[in-house]
Amino acid sequence: MIHNFNAGPSILPKEVFQQAAEGVLNFNNTGLSVLEVGHRTSSFQQVMDEVMALTKELMQLDADHEVMFLQGGASMQFMQVPFNMLDENDTAAYADTGVWSSKAIKEAKLFGDVDVVCTGKENNYSSIPKDFAVSNDAKYFHITTNNTIYGTQWSKIPSTSIPLVADMSSDIFSRVIDFNAFDILYAGAQKNMGPAGVTLVVVNKNVLGKVSRKIPTMLDYRTHIKEGSMFNTPPVFAVYVSLLTLRWLKSIGGIAAVEKMNDAKAALLYNEIDNNPAFVGTAAKEDRSKMNVCFVLKNPELDQAFLQITKEKEIIGIKGHRLVGGFRASIYNALPISSVEVLVSAMKEFGQKHG
Ligand SMILES: Cc1ncc(COP(=O)(O)O)c(C=O)c1O
Repeated sequence: MIHNFNAGPSILPKEVFQQAAEGVLNFNNTGLSVLEVGHRTSSFQQVMDEVMALTKELMQLDADHEVMFLQGGASMQFMQVPFNMLDENDTAAYADTGVWSSKAIKEAKLFGDVDVVCTGKENNYSSIPKDFAVSNDAKYFHITTNNTIYGTQWSKIPSTSIPLVADMSSDIFSRVIDFNAFDILYAGAQKNMGPAGVTLVVVNKNVLGKVSRKIPTMLDYRTHIKEGSMFNTPPVFAVYVSLLTLRWLKSIGGIAAVEKMNDAKAALLYNEIDNNPAFVGTAAKEDRSKMNVCFVLKNPELDQAFLQITKEKEIIGIKGHRLVGGFRASIYNALPISSVEVLVSAMKEFGQKHG
């Protein structure tokens, strides 16, 4: 059995793959593939309606929060957020906690002023900055709730009196938080929610319509809210598989239940990192991500030897991001704890030989 620790696209539940495969061949007993039914048919409309309703239910969203399924990845949101929220003479506040925040900052600067209220750059993004102030004059405050590459996560979401915006690509649906506290949140689906090709965007409709610039129709959130994410052809397969994944999440008890599992997986892995002298965790303990666990070997010359042991156990996807090196085990919602146990056994074996 392969143990898939890929950072994204990444593991989804086996039963979701099974159902997705069935849907490709015979979608809901229509005798047609989900790939060939029109998006305006009632059978696909039901998919869109259900995935939106399930998102609202699982996140417990209030009536002001609208759900959209868009294209362009989370990277498109780096510019779509300021396009809808920031005028040329306005300022937006951003927390710089890693590569993805930096990319978001770069795009926002094309639309207005950006106040980088804190950065973890000096310590190689190994912790979440704690001391910073956000001006009430800023139009919004943007954070990246989980930093996929550096393995850090905001354990406590900052509260602000201005609109809060978050990139939740790598920890969406993984823990109970007050999703209504966010005025915009977005996530590429390809980690906890479904396949690549669709992006979840949740917007508090009250924050829209305040900029004076013209917004192209396709980039205006109000277009997609009004048209129920059907202004143009949605990525039907990615939306369908997201629905299957959210149904699975609900069936196992929702976000609260998966959070318990995620906590257990993270505890098991960090415990081994902390107690096995061959390994060193790279993120500050209080800011450790429960989704992407980053570590290095005390002796990096042995990286290949460790990789060899993991390979024998059919562990894949644990090489660190090319920008940081070392190792990264992504332990998203669908990864079973048994896979973490196998990784821990590989670490123990390595520790006994080389520790
Ligand atoms: C936190 C975060 N934001 C943004 C992205 C970019 O997402 P996309 O490839 O969907 O544009 C990623 C991709 O891994 C990510 O982890």
